[in-house]
Amino acid sequence: MAEGLVLVGCGNMGYALLRGWVESSIVHPGAVHVVEPAAALRERAAALGVNTHDTCEALPTKPDLIVIALKPQALESELPSYQRFSDGTVFVSIAAGVPSVKLGSLLSSHRIVRAMPNTPTAIGKGSTIIFANRAVAEEDLRNVVRLLRAGGAVHQVTCEDLIDAATAISGSGPAYIFYLIECLTNAARELGLPTEIACNLAKETVHGAAALAYASKEDLAELRRQVTSPNGTTAAGISVLAAENALSTLILRTAKAAFARSLELGGAEQTWSTTGG
Ligand SMILES: NC(=O)c1ccc[n+]([C@@H]2O[C@H](COP(=O)([O-])OP(=O)(O)OC[C@H]3O[C@@H](n4cnc5c(N)ncnc54)[C@H](OP(=O)(O)O)[C@@H]3O)[C@@H](O)[C@H]2O)c1
Repeated sequence: MAEGLVLVGCGNMGYALLRGWVESSIVHPGAVHVVEPAAALRERAAALGVNTHDTCEALPTKPDLIVIALKPQALESELPSYQRFSDGTVFVSIAAGVPSVKLGSLLSSHRIVRAMPNTPTAIGKGSTIIFANRAVAEEDLRNVVRLLRAGGAVHQVTCEDLIDAATAISGSGPAYIFYLIECLTNAARELGLPTEIACNLAKETVHGAAALAYASKEDLAELRRQVTSPNGTTAAGISVLAAENALSTLILRTAKAAFARSLELGGAEQTWSTTGG
């Protein structure tokens, strides 16, 4: 990146992206500029060797890419300061719910990519889904994908609405899984296991099962059948989770609640079109 890469907002997700980029060596830290008002978060970013700024005043004049990792609520007030980069720079927004047409009007640009990453991106195990406006040149899009791949898998969609669906699954998903690990840990403790072993067993089980599901050619139902002997211990446990579709109903309700909130954050009930530019 000749003129550099700018990251606006280095909170939870911004920092996860930054770590993934720097630790995978996909970018040289000296070419990265982070804008973050919180001093402690700037210091955390600076420890990775990148340039840090408390405002956007002193940024390079023509960065190749600006990645926006602000809360959706902050976009309206903050993005207009970046309109001066609209000639040439590609913008990538990871804000949940905010449609590209709205981002385009705040930034005075059509060169917009929306991306929905998740926090495992920090260690190269993330999942990111992206949508690019038609105004983004193929070569620019390839650069964006290359950058995001430093954090893990990247999936492109041509229908912007699917970003909201992915937000409810992979964007928010790590929190669901952390909660599941907490619940498994608590159950293990209730059954008498010491806390440290309980927590390790829960994490290792989720990690191992996910790795096996990912590596295996068998479908998930078959993998489940392989550990569920008739009348065995797993069958006793699964009979509770699956009774009246208890778990699947709960997970569907969970995803629908996150999806609805994503639409709400973007103001989907208003009249913005989401067909891109
Ligand atoms: N967390 C996730 O797992 C996840 C996953 C996918 C997508 N996202 C999306 O990522 C975005 C950021 O979420 P987050 O969880 O990372 O939020 P966050 O931790 O609050 O990070 C946002 C950061 O931006 C800073 N900021 C505020 N005004 C700024 C400005 N003018 N210039 C530069 N930085 C500024 C905030 O500082 P202050 O706190 O001082 O205001 C904060 O440190 C959201 O839109 C969210 O939808 C998050």
